[in-house]
Amino acid sequence: MTIRPLRKAVFPVAGLGTRLLPATKTMPKEMLTVVDRPLIQYAVDEAREAGIEQLIFVTGRGKSSLVDYFDRGFELEATMERAGKSLSALKGSRTTPGDLISVRQQQPLGLGHAVWCARHIVGDEPFAVLLPDDLMVGGALRQMVEAYNRVGGNIVCAEEVAPEKTASYGIVTPGETDGNLTEVKGLVEKPKPEVAPSRLGVIGRYILQPEVMTILDTKETGAGGEIQLTDAMAKLIGKQPFHAVKVDAVRHDCGDKTGFVLANLAIALDSDELGPRVRAFLAGR
Ligand code: G1P
Repeated sequence: MTIRPLRKAVFPVAGLGTRLLPATKTMPKEMLTVVDRPLIQYAVDEAREAGIEQLIFVTGRGKSSLVDYFDRGFELEATMERAGKSLSALKGSRTTPGDLISVRQQQPLGLGHAVWCARHIVGDEPFAVLLPDDLMVGGALRQMVEAYNRVGGNIVCAEEVAPEKTASYGIVTPGETDGNLTEVKGLVEKPKPEVAPSRLGVIGRYILQPEVMTILDTKETGAGGEIQLTDAMAKLIGKQPFHAVKVDAVRHDCGDKTGFVLANLAIALDSDELGPRVRAFLAGR
């Protein structure tokens, strides 16, 4: 089996962010700040650290600021330089021309549809998918790439979810487990707890083979009437290697208000600069 190198990553960022309203009324949720960077930059930093060379944003109306953010702020940089200010404050917020490509998802038809919108840019290569809502601290994609380089095929990031939460995740029917890798025998999108095949939930990181795009071409709908990535991935099981990997990283679900606040707190507490004051504040409550 030849394992083709992973160079591209798709970021589905067209969502409306309704769980974070009113903050997201005019501001993309991916641009909301976690400590000192917008949420999207955490996912981009993670992808870069995993060796990704090409970033593909699947955006929608009102999401142009995401692409602008990674542009070179020419006037800003020139002004800062003239004032003798260090450009290090802009770390990670710039891409080399050609490294970031954006396509539009014109209608909210589901995650599978969002990924399918990137098909011409992905072409005939394996690709990663990163859902920025899941802020991962600890290099999740890098660990998945390490697993991919051993077993190839398709890989989803997974963790045990609370029994009552299966209806919020893609759930794996597990096969044999070897270390942090579990064979995927089946996948079902958002099953109710009483019919869930396990508690092994897919979280927002994937490494997929390009054949999934051909399956997505059929535009079949599934749970919630949406075109589900989970359903398309399920059709690859048995045809290509398919594994779930448990990574050594902490996940913050920034898709809702509590997760967002906890992400800010956890990252601030870990920061040398902010940690002591935040800790002292919390101790005094
Ligand atoms: C999506 C996927 C689901 C996955 C989840 C991870 O759901 O459809 O399979 O478990 O992301 O965050 P969403 O959270 O967009 O409803």
